[in-house]
Amino acid sequence: MSETKRRILTGITTTGIPHLGNYVGSIRPAIASATTAFENHEGDAFFFLADYHGIIKCFDPDEIHRSTRAIAATWIACGLDPEKVTFYRQSDIPEIPELAWVLNCSCAKGLMNRAHAYKAAVDINLSKEDTDPDYGISMGLFGYPVLMAADILMFNATHVPVGKDQIQHIEMARDIAGTFNFKYKPLFTEPLAVVDENTPLLTGLDGRKMSKSYGNTIPLFGDGNPQVDPEKALKKAVMQIVTNSQPPEEPKDPNDCTIFEIYKAFATPEEIEVLAAHYRRGIGWGEAKEILFNKINDEIAPYRARYLELMSNPKELEEILQMGAAKARRQAQKQLDKTRRAIGIKPLAKLK
Ligand code: TRP
Repeated sequence: MSETKRRILTGITTTGIPHLGNYVGSIRPAIASATTAFENHEGDAFFFLADYHGIIKCFDPDEIHRSTRAIAATWIACGLDPEKVTFYRQSDIPEIPELAWVLNCSCAKGLMNRAHAYKAAVDINLSKEDTDPDYGISMGLFGYPVLMAADILMFNATHVPVGKDQIQHIEMARDIAGTFNFKYKPLFTEPLAVVDENTPLLTGLDGRKMSKSYGNTIPLFGDGNPQVDPEKALKKAVMQIVTNSQPPEEPKDPNDCTIFEIYKAFATPEEIEVLAAHYRRGIGWGEAKEILFNKINDEIAPYRARYLELMSNPKELEEILQMGAAKARRQAQKQLDKTRRAIGIKPLAKLK
């Protein structure tokens, strides 16, 4: 790979089951940009399941496992091509936590003290009486940005697509790389955060941002429960979108409506205009929801079929992940070897 090529890398924490907001905000744009980069020979892409990050906030082993499987199946079903993108599970690359330890040893503790996620947890504790500032905060949470730096620096990623909440972590990865490079040897590329201002933040059922923590999400392919038909689950959720009490014939403002907000993330500009005109003439909420459901369903139904196939065939998924791990590990081993030599950890002599 030449110096000027991009290497895109991003991690997905393995908690929860992907919802429509994840699809629109991260899965769909990430797969599109990786595919374009590959086709235009602009560089390559690494996507991974950050399961060692998952265990920082989730202590339910079944949830970690279920989520890992559902997320892997979702990304593959939505068109991630494991031949074009290196797709792996973080925990299959033991060199990553090993690198994290090495980086821990040159990373200033003060840098971690400034991490937003840690500071927010401390602030909550400080707001309560008689509570230790570090109550409930594990070393994993405290050192989270170092593991994330190891994820990125291991592969010398140049561009890291993330949400706004993660920008600080990328800045920290740059800082950690810079410190190591200065102390020892310039082995690590300082990555850039890529925040796409154009990807819509999807609105949830209640009109707030769609988020697992608000409980207002629309499932992408159901909730992982095989008893529930995922297409019906999608329809049911769409029908639950909160609307006002305007009667059907009354003209409506498309720009003040969750149904329309979500529709915009799936429709072409012409289709959006057609629906807007329908709103201004008057549309019943039931009809608007039906139109939205069909639009979403047309796009995701083929992916859903593949998702269900992969979910019922975990062997195929495991094989895909193992193939990705083999590709990633070859590079990780080389980078870790260089790192160890740079810090003075190497064989005393060559044994024949
Ligand atoms: N912390 C990221 C998140 O919660 C996930 C993640 C882990 C990640 N390692 C990464 C993202 C490396 C980008 C690069 O969204």
